Amino acid sequence: MEFLPIFLNVRSQNCVVVGGGEVAYRKAVLLDRAGARLRVVAPKICEPLEKLVLAGAGEMHIRAFKESDLDGVFLVVAATDDETVNQQVSELAKNRGLPVNVVDKPELCSFIVPSIVDRSPVVIAISSGGTSPILTRQLKEKIEALIPATYGRLAMLLGKFRGRVKSVVTDFTSRTRFWEKLLSGPMPGMVLAGDEVAAWRYIEKQLGESDQLAVQGEVFLVGAGPGDPDLLTIKALRLMYEADVVLYDRLVSKEIMLKVRPDAEKIHVGKARANHSVPQEQINEMLVRLAKEGKKVLRLKGGDPFIFGRGGEEIDRLAQEKIPFQVVPGITAASGCAAYAGIPLTHRDCSQSVRFVTGHLKDGSIDLDWDSLAKEHQTIVFYMGLVGLEKICESLISHGAEPDLPIALVQQGTTETQLVLRGTLATMPALVLANEVKAPTIIIVGRVVALQSKYAWFRKEALLEDSAD
Ligand SMILES: C[S@@+](CC[C@H](N)C(=O)[O-])C[C@H]1O[C@@H](n2cnc3c(N)ncnc32)[C@H](O)[C@@H]1O
Repeated sequence: MEFLPIFLNVRSQNCVVVGGGEVAYRKAVLLDRAGARLRVVAPKICEPLEKLVLAGAGEMHIRAFKESDLDGVFLVVAATDDETVNQQVSELAKNRGLPVNVVDKPELCSFIVPSIVDRSPVVIAISSGGTSPILTRQLKEKIEALIPATYGRLAMLLGKFRGRVKSVVTDFTSRTRFWEKLLSGPMPGMVLAGDEVAAWRYIEKQLGESDQLAVQGEVFLVGAGPGDPDLLTIKALRLMYEADVVLYDRLVSKEIMLKVRPDAEKIHVGKARANHSVPQEQINEMLVRLAKEGKKVLRLKGGDPFIFGRGGEEIDRLAQEKIPFQVVPGITAASGCAAYAGIPLTHRDCSQSVRFVTGHLKDGSIDLDWDSLAKEHQTIVFYMGLVGLEKICESLISHGAEPDLPIALVQQGTTETQLVLRGTLATMPALVLANEVKAPTIIIVGRVVALQSKYAWFRKEALLEDSAD
């Protein structure tokens, strides 16, 4: 993050705008809307700016900028078309420890002014850190279209009830539930439709019944997909924002965790291969305990929770304890990695079925039905198969698969570090040995893998293939 996003209270504070043209006017309008006392300095000041300053009983100095213009000032904006003046204002302000913005010159700024969607008192600020004003403008247009113009009225109404709700519903978790229930019910619709009286009555009624609000904990078992945060489902995103506490795995990326409600408690529970940082039984017990405390608990897992994710064991304990839960599927690594590698998992010409298999070694062996796995016209996806790769290739060949059967290994699929290794059953073990492969990886075996040379679309350049392929 290049700049820290903050909202500054400039009400009744002296704010200097150096410059008297259209750009200076636009900045002055913003400062004026936030209640600042304007001091405008420029040899020439355009009419609208002059009117604005006079209407707000601000100061106008029709002359060149002087250092003393910064005396008694809270914040500084330079918006002249003279680079030397802009530079001078920036240096002098920084020397005095004053926040300074020089329009369109991020390198001279200690703060930048974001693009805003204003539904006061709700204000959404958007910034590209000075890299692309057009991008922020497009984002602003999208958000403007999404948020009804009357949204601010909803915030104002809620603000009026804030103190009362706090004194009536004294427990923090119950109060959170009260607001959540209120905001997911019919009340916001009443305000947005202009019927604030009905909304007011509705809130009063809910407040009267708030003692019946039992604090009921719940668990959301949610699949976070294989890595790309854009592959999260809409439901996953919603629950990630509702949860009070999150238990997450190693496979859930930092980018995905950034989408969790910022004030939610976040507990990392492992698990790297052969390094289960929190044992499964302990995770199950944590889920039960936290839900019994009345919390909304998000159990966030890589991929899909019901595919090699031990999700069944976790909900089994919850069911025993009669704790309510929801399961939200995620895109499993096989689908995500195959799609991003450009390998269709089935194809009418060469693969009529697909099998997801664990390649996890137990006591040095992989206990699988090799005869059926070695058959043609199917695709086999091995999860957790890197350590046993040599054994997998050998076993398939010794049970009748052609040594030239195509195989791909996808490393960190769907992410910016995705790498695809493509070879045959005969060549893949050497290819993997010769390259430093990083977890997590998935292995795809079958004739469909050959199509990757035509269908690759994501990080096409990140491909290693053996020369015999
Ligand atoms: C314990 S399993 C969990 C699978 C997960 N529940 C799912 O549905 O994808 C972990 C294995 O999934 C595979 N995996 C998960 N994410 C992956 C990714 N982004 N790229 C490659 N393989 C991945 C790897 O084989 C890894 O060892």
